[in-house]
Amino acid sequence: MTTTLFFELFSGLPQQGPGDAASTIRALSLVPGVGPETRILDIGCGTGRQTRVLSQNSPARIVAIDNHPPFVDELNREASRLGLAGRVESRVADMRSLDFADASFDVIWCEGAIYNTGVEASLCDWRRLLVRGGHVAFTEVCWTKPDPPAECVSFWEQEYPAIRDTAALLTAIDACGYETVGHFMLPRSAWWDDYYRPLERNVTEFRARHPGRPEARELADQCQREIDIWKAYSDCYGYAFFVARAIKNLSSTHP
Ligand SMILES: C[S@@+](CC[C@H](N)C(=O)[O-])C[C@H]1O[C@@H](n2cnc3c(N)ncnc32)[C@H](O)[C@@H]1O
Repeated sequence: MTTTLFFELFSGLPQQGPGDAASTIRALSLVPGVGPETRILDIGCGTGRQTRVLSQNSPARIVAIDNHPPFVDELNREASRLGLAGRVESRVADMRSLDFADASFDVIWCEGAIYNTGVEASLCDWRRLLVRGGHVAFTEVCWTKPDPPAECVSFWEQEYPAIRDTAALLTAIDACGYETVGHFMLPRSAWWDDYYRPLERNVTEFRARHPGRPEARELADQCQREIDIWKAYSDCYGYAFFVARAIKNLSSTHP
């Protein structure tokens, strides 16, 4: 029941996490040689905000996966509507057990979803899916100030204790056998304009639809708290985009 409520709360949003077209295009420009033969795997695609940007700004072929079937259906409908269905295919799949053949992809893309499986585990699992010298591009939340206020630290310790600073993430990328090609922070607007602003509206409408339901109130409170923490402390953390190239032999164990 809580899962149903969760997806109700997150339905109808332009995107399901922080991100924007300019950042996706900037990261894409860091991947050399993207052409019609390039195969991109977009992991945790949601309703495909970044999938559309990738397909509209490159001739690459894209397979997009997510484990929530309504998101996948929406992306497939949208790809057909935009005439992109020949190059974009969206499938229901679990990023914890991807069953594509070895070396199936030139690029693995993952905006706002690597936290589901963790940076090190994901980077090591994805190695076998990449061709030699293939690239990964992913976003991950990170600290942008050394000593954030206690309230902010305590929120993140509860929500995502793996949060680190950019330097620690660069070290992790290196330890997993990748060479970072570039990295940059997403602007504040990438959190607000098409994510937290419409989500906050959803929270208000969701509360009105479910008066007197404790589990709905708890979910709405949790979501609003995440937004309020960001409003108060967004100078202390942000989302970073990393683009990296696989440089060492395939390995399935992570450091
Ligand atoms: C924060 S959203 C990001 C979605 C999209 N990339 C975006 O930025 O709008 C995380 C996505 O990961 C998906 N997800 C969560 N666990 C997953 C899993 N085990 N396998 C595949 N997708 C998963 C969710 O359904 C959701 O669409």
